[in-house]
Amino acid sequence: NEGALWGARFASGPSPELAALSRSTHFDWQLYPYDIAGSRAHAKALAAAGYLDDAELERMLDGLDRLEAAVDAGQIVPGEGDEDVHGALETALIGIVGPELGGKLRAGRSRNDQIATLVRLYLLDHSRRITRLVIDLIDALASQADAAGDAVMPGRTHLQHAQPVLLAHQLLAHAWPLVRDLERLRDWSARASLSPYGAGALAGSSLGLDPQLVARELGLTGVSENSIDATASRDVVAEFAFVAAQLGVDLSRLSEEIILWATREFGFVKLDDGYSTGSSIMPQKKNPDIAELARGKAGRLIGNLTGLLATLKGLPLAYNRDLQEDKEPVFDSVETLEVLLPAFTGMVATLRFDTERMAELAPQGFSLATDVAEWLVKQRVPFREAHEISGALVRFCEERGLELHEPSDDDYAAIDARLTGGVREVLSVSGAVASRAGVGGTAPARVAEQLAQLTERVRAL
Ligand code: ARG
Repeated sequence: NEGALWGARFASGPSPELAALSRSTHFDWQLYPYDIAGSRAHAKALAAAGYLDDAELERMLDGLDRLEAAVDAGQIVPGEGDEDVHGALETALIGIVGPELGGKLRAGRSRNDQIATLVRLYLLDHSRRITRLVIDLIDALASQADAAGDAVMPGRTHLQHAQPVLLAHQLLAHAWPLVRDLERLRDWSARASLSPYGAGALAGSSLGLDPQLVARELGLTGVSENSIDATASRDVVAEFAFVAAQLGVDLSRLSEEIILWATREFGFVKLDDGYSTGSSIMPQKKNPDIAELARGKAGRLIGNLTGLLATLKGLPLAYNRDLQEDKEPVFDSVETLEVLLPAFTGMVATLRFDTERMAELAPQGFSLATDVAEWLVKQRVPFREAHEISGALVRFCEERGLELHEPSDDDYAAIDARLTGGVREVLSVSGAVASRAGVGGTAPARVAEQLAQLTERVRAL
C-alpha cells in the first residue's frame, strides 16, 4: 500500500473491493487547486511555529508550485492506489521534494479539517461565478422589461384571467426572486468564509499552529469556533445546495410560463431559432427545450439538496466517512447551474413578444370586473355590495355575449341604481393598469421605479 496515508498498523493492504468503494479521486480531483492552496498556507503555519526552517519552507513552496503546474498540465493524475485527492497530492509532492521534506507537511492537519475547508473554498469560488451568471439573467429580464414599455398582458391567478398587468411588471416578478437568491448567496458566504483548517481530526492540534494565519492565506475571514463542529458539520454545503435548488425552482417557474406563452393557443412569444429546437420527424416543430431542461433540472437540484440532508440527518459527531457523500450532489448542482444559466439567459434575451396579441387578450375574461367594483367603492358603495353588483354585471354580460362596457345605461340601472354609465371611464385596460398606482403596483410609473430599484439592488450585491 505504498503512498497511502495510513497502513502501518495493518497487516495487509486494503482489499481491491474496499479500494474501489473508498476511492473518491474521480470526483474530488477537481479540488486540487484548493488542496494545494491549503498546503501552501499550512506550510507557512508550520514555518511560523518553527517546524520548517526558512530554506525548508522555500523548497516546500517551490515544490507545491511545481506540483500545481504538473497537475495543471495533466502530467500528474490520480493513480489506481490513490484513495483521494489529498493522498494523491501528498504522494506526488513527495516525488518532487523527497520524503524527508514532503513527509513533514501533514503534521497538525487531518484530511477531516482539510476537506471541510476545501469544499468551502470550492463553493465560494463557484458562488461568485454563479452570481455573475444570474446577474446576466436578471439583466436580460430587465432589458426585456424596459423594451416592453407600457405593453399590457392578461395577469392570471389560477391560470385564469384575473386583472391586466404590464408585461414589464410580470417579467420583473421573475427577476426579484433571482435577486433574493443572490442575496442569499451573499449572506451564505459570510458563514462559509470561516476556516476549519487547524481543527485537525476533530479535537484541534497540539502543535501550536496559527489557524488565523491559514485562514488569512486562504482569503477566509476567520476560523471555526469549535473544532468538532468544524469537521462534522456540512450545513454550509446544504445551505448552498438549497440556494441552488431555489434558483432551479425560480428558473422552472419562468420556464413554465415561457412554454405556455410559446404555444399556438397563447401565442404571446416567439423563441429565437438559436435558442429553440426542432423535431426529428415533424418538420414544422419549434420546441422550447431550454425551458423544459430548466424545468427538469430543477428536480435534480432539489434531489441534490434532499439527498444531502438525508445523508447528514443521523450522523453522530464528529467526522464520519458518510460525509464524503456531500461532494457529488453539490458539485452536480454547481455544474448544472453553470451549464444551464448561459443558455437560459440567451433564450430570455432573444424572446420576441407579440404585444398586440397580449393587449387584445388583456381585457377578456371580464378581467376589469374588479375595476367596476372599485369604481362603486369610490361612489361610497360598501365593497360587499359592490362585489355583488359587479358580479351581477358579469353574469348579465356573459349570458348576452357582451363586454362589461357594452350594456346600455338602462341595463346598468336595472342591475343596480348605483351602477351608471360613468363606470365606462374605468373600463379600459390602460385605465385599469394606470389606476394601480400604489407601491409595487402595475401602473407604468410604479413599474419604471421598480426597474430602477432592481438595478440598484443588483449593483449592491
Ligand atoms: N475523502 C474524505 C471526504 O471527502 C476525506 C477524507 C477523510 N477520511 C477519513 N477516513 N478520515 O470526506
